[in-house]
Amino acid sequence: MSDPRPLLLVLPGSEHLGNDLAAALGAEVGRLALRAFPDGETYVRIDTSPEGRPVILLCSLHEPDRRLVPLLLVAATARDLGACRTGLVAPYLAYMRQDARFRPGEGISSRYVGTLLSGAIDWLVTVDPHLHRHHSLGEVYTVPATAVAAAPAIAAWLRREVRAPFLVGPDGESAQWVGAVADAAGAPHVVLDKVRHGDRAVDVSVPRVDGWRDRTPVLVDDIISTATTMAETVRQLRGAGLPPPICIGVHAVFAADAERVLRDAGAGRVVTCDTIAHPTNAIDTAALLAPAVREHLGA
Ligand code: R5P
Repeated sequence: MSDPRPLLLVLPGSEHLGNDLAAALGAEVGRLALRAFPDGETYVRIDTSPEGRPVILLCSLHEPDRRLVPLLLVAATARDLGACRTGLVAPYLAYMRQDARFRPGEGISSRYVGTLLSGAIDWLVTVDPHLHRHHSLGEVYTVPATAVAAAPAIAAWLRREVRAPFLVGPDGESAQWVGAVADAAGAPHVVLDKVRHGDRAVDVSVPRVDGWRDRTPVLVDDIISTATTMAETVRQLRGAGLPPPICIGVHAVFAADAERVLRDAGAGRVVTCDTIAHPTNAIDTAALLAPAVREHLGA
């Protein structure tokens, strides 16, 4: 008889979440062997039998191009070996920002990756996906999908760590995250306007801060990638005479020299959720993910 516990397979880059998520779910962490063949192809072996068991793949999708093919191969192997249902927990879900054809000829990558992954899994759980022009995961993924909000965990961190915060969202997209955190933390907030001119070039509107000078400025955004958005917002706040703001990002993508860019702009403490392993992680998400996963497992 097969083990009744769900089998959790942890893909490279998500090891930091594996044990906490398994403990929260009462899942067994399975043995998974992945390596590169000399020609660069990926070798996959699942050493804990998935036969007859629900399988959970844990794979945060930062640097997605090198993670997607191994993920697809592990998902296919689990199904092939008899897993009864195979779900994906991707705490960071990549390819959500190219959500429209901004220039003629461009691909809408969010849809294509959504279609690809939907063919490989039976359900999906993620944390704060970048939903902007797509309004729900259901517009991108054809399998049942849950977007877990990090806002309660961020608000709890703020209540513990920051005296009288004043929250700032750098752009219209951030309104959903900063508004939810502000409500949960009982703090005031403003949302600025951003115009993007390129990957590393943005303008951010000057904030009106006169009523909030006695509070601690805290920036909140979903993704810190090049940190251009956060850095420009920090410069605006410092230019308005505020102290170094605390910068909170849900997903610590931190491309190339992003952390230095942010520090050089005059940021204070930089804090992220652990959806992507990074030295700035201070906010845990395993306890947020577990109830959503349980629902998909029917447990
Ligand atoms: C964009 O709309 C997102 O919410 C973030 O503001 C953006 O992805 C941050 O990217 P970067 O750090 O490269 O400015």
